[in-house]
Amino acid sequence: MSQVQKITLTSIGVLIGFFYSSIFEIFDDFLSYDVANSSTEVALEFLQQANNYSHNSDEIAKKVRIFCWILTGVQNHESRARHVKATWIKRCDKFVFMSSAEDPTLPSINLNISEGRNYLWAKTKKAFSWIYHHPENYLQNYDWFLKADDDTYVIMENLKSFLSSKSPHDLVHFGCRFKPFTKRGYNTGGSGYILSRAALQKFIEISLPNSTLCSQSHDGPEDVEIAKCLENVGVEAADTRDAEGRHRFMAFEPEKMLKPVPDPRDSWFLNFSWYPFQYGPNCCSDQAISFHYVKPKMMYLMEYLIYRVRPFGVQTGFSKNESES
Ligand SMILES: *[C@@H]1O[C@H](CO)[C@@H](O)[C@H](O)[C@H]1NC(C)=O
Ligand SMILES: *[C@@H]1O[C@H](CO)[C@@H](O)[C@H](O)[C@H]1NC(C)=O
Ligand SMILES: *[C@@H]1O[C@H](CO)[C@@H](O)[C@H](O)[C@H]1NC(C)=O
Ligand SMILES: *[C@@H]1O[C@H](CO)[C@@H](O)[C@H](O)[C@H]1NC(C)=O
Ligand SMILES: *[C@@H]1O[C@H](CO)[C@@H](O)[C@H](O)[C@H]1NC(C)=O
Ligand SMILES: *[C@@H]1O[C@H](CO)[C@@H](O)[C@H](O)[C@H]1NC(C)=O
Repeated sequence: MSQVQKITLTSIGVLIGFFYSSIFEIFDDFLSYDVANSSTEVALEFLQQANNYSHNSDEIAKKVRIFCWILTGVQNHESRARHVKATWIKRCDKFVFMSSAEDPTLPSINLNISEGRNYLWAKTKKAFSWIYHHPENYLQNYDWFLKADDDTYVIMENLKSFLSSKSPHDLVHFGCRFKPFTKRGYNTGGSGYILSRAALQKFIEISLPNSTLCSQSHDGPEDVEIAKCLENVGVEAADTRDAEGRHRFMAFEPEKMLKPVPDPRDSWFLNFSWYPFQYGPNCCSDQAISFHYVKPKMMYLMEYLIYRVRPFGVQTGFSKNESES
């Protein structure tokens, strides 16, 4: 680790990494508040401030164009989607919520597919098809296509920085890579996964119409199914770790990853992860891209810690060179 990197820990690293034991208790209190109603007001406040402090106008932000879609359902529009909209998703170049009801304020699309776990694969197929076939030519106007859940939190600048050394012409998808069920691994859905333009094209044009290559059923785990469809047409699930082997796409929320001794209920993760993983302060890259199981309250906390808090005298942010790994 360079000297610069050592002192340029993100705010969240400084605040959580060093004080993880005591801060977990604070988080527990924080997360136990019932803010179902007041959180909508918080969401509106964040929306009004949108982009003031985070708009990144450098060349990477302009060069790497990301289309984001959120897999959600009508029952989650108020409780989750609204808070995703108020926080990280505004940093995508374009975004849409894929649901079973139209809501122009999000905006969400009615995919005309039943709600429920058994239909997530059908929704995912239809969502990517909708994007591919869109009259505004999203396929050519964007380079990368991110699918995330309504409890995923993404640090868009780090995603763009990571992708800036990759090509949208490569047959790749990126995310938190898991071992089972596939030959070459799959990217777990909750951490968000991202397809290159070439991968999306192969998926829709070659794989999806062919029952030998891609499941035509409406059910099955969407992340595993899409990975099979992709690997069958030569799209690779690629490595997203940093130079030190720390993960960028996280399967859990920050406090679970940072705990040195994992909750036994989460021990399956070590078996599932394609790459070795170490719980505790070394879990996660300084250039972390995503976390899963992030509740709305935690999304606002992360917005504040990552994009607002500036420790006095500490240089934050990292340069283009440090991200080349
Ligand atoms: C939110 O507020 C409305 C109106 O004040 C109330 O009817 C509803 O029960 C509240 N919901 C929750 C989850 O507290
Ligand atoms: C955000 O920008 C708007 C318009 O420039 C300004 O009115 C508002 O005060 C800014 N908000 C913050 C939190 O800086
Ligand atoms: C869903 O059905 C409605 C009514 O038939 C239609 O207008 C809309 O385009 C459909 N949505 C999708 C994504 O196919
Ligand atoms: C479907 O894929 C299989 C395996 O690649 C191939 O042999 C077959 O010709 C394809 N079918 C069509 C209709 O393209
Ligand atoms: C993980 O794998 C080990 C060795 O294969 C096995 O003994 C253990 O039961 C697995 N744990 C879980 C939680 O799946
Ligand atoms: C970044 O890399 C370029 C080319 O590799 C080099 O010329 C430049 O000095 C580097 N900048 C920093 C801040 O290390």
